[in-house]
Amino acid sequence: MSISKILVVGAGQMGAGIAQVTAQAGIDATLADISLDHAQRGLGRVSKALSRLVDKGRMAAEQKDSILSRITAAPDLEAAAAGADLVIEAIAEDPAAKSDLWGRLADICTPEVIFASNTSSISITSMARDSRRPDRFIGMHFMNPVPLMQLVEVVRGLETSDSVCDAIVELARKMGKEPVVVSDSAAFVVNRIAIPMINEAAFTLMEGISTAEGIDTCVKLGLNHPLGPLALADLIGLDTVVSILEVMVAETGDPKYRPCPLLRRMVAAGRLGRKAGQGFYKY
Ligand SMILES: NC(=O)c1ccc[n+]([C@@H]2O[C@H](COP(=O)([O-])OP(=O)(O)OC[C@H]3O[C@@H](n4cnc5c(N)ncnc54)[C@H](O)[C@@H]3O)[C@@H](O)[C@H]2O)c1
Repeated sequence: MSISKILVVGAGQMGAGIAQVTAQAGIDATLADISLDHAQRGLGRVSKALSRLVDKGRMAAEQKDSILSRITAAPDLEAAAAGADLVIEAIAEDPAAKSDLWGRLADICTPEVIFASNTSSISITSMARDSRRPDRFIGMHFMNPVPLMQLVEVVRGLETSDSVCDAIVELARKMGKEPVVVSDSAAFVVNRIAIPMINEAAFTLMEGISTAEGIDTCVKLGLNHPLGPLALADLIGLDTVVSILEVMVAETGDPKYRPCPLLRRMVAAGRLGRKAGQGFYKY
């Protein structure tokens, strides 16, 4: 199965990173979002990230130009889908929005196109049904920041074919990543472990047990984590953290995953983390 062009839908922090590692692997990428302006902003993020590497002497300026020349921002989904062998979806963590998008893409794309979701928590098997090609549907869960983090969780839905799984494992390796194949279940492996820890850290802060800095320092020094859970929440985006917890409650029925009220209040106030300039910390 050869993959020579990838459509990335959702040009936010994850989508831009996915387009970047695609182009760095020598594969053409098209970025689409809710408007051309949004898609171009995603391309701008990639350009900025590559410029930082050039400034630090870690990449030649010509290499940056050649990577950027492989990424196109598309005005709409129809134009973006033309010629793509694989679609990687990285829109907001909203089950209804994703379901709607897969239905639209199923109409636009030819039946052999593979569909992959970068979802953090939503069922691959249920999105596969919306896509009307369950055997060609898979989870490709990149970590944040995409260009730096080694892991990709490759999530097999109930109907995902062996050949599609093999093709995605091979693609992840071509992108310089370490793929781990996991089964479809709420929040998969990394977030099943990390998101409850973040939620517990938010409760710890809300109960006044320590400050944000104090909680993060305890986890960093006490557990040898490079980043504290509240700083990690700011990196992920608090809206995404709450959405993942809601999916975990809905999928498992287990109230232990209920989002901390402080997280909900911060989302309501627009304190979404790094992407908003303020979360548990100011940026
Ligand atoms: N943030 C993380 O650390 C992280 C890590 C791994 C996976 N993810 C997952 O990646 C996905 C995207 O997360 P993000 O952090 O990049 O979010 P983000 O808010 O930075 O970007 C989301 C983008 O999707 C666009 N979008 C929303 N609805 C759309 C639609 N219907 N059609 C086209 N574009 C649409 C938005 O305009 C925005 O540009 C989510 O599913 C999230 O769970 C996030």
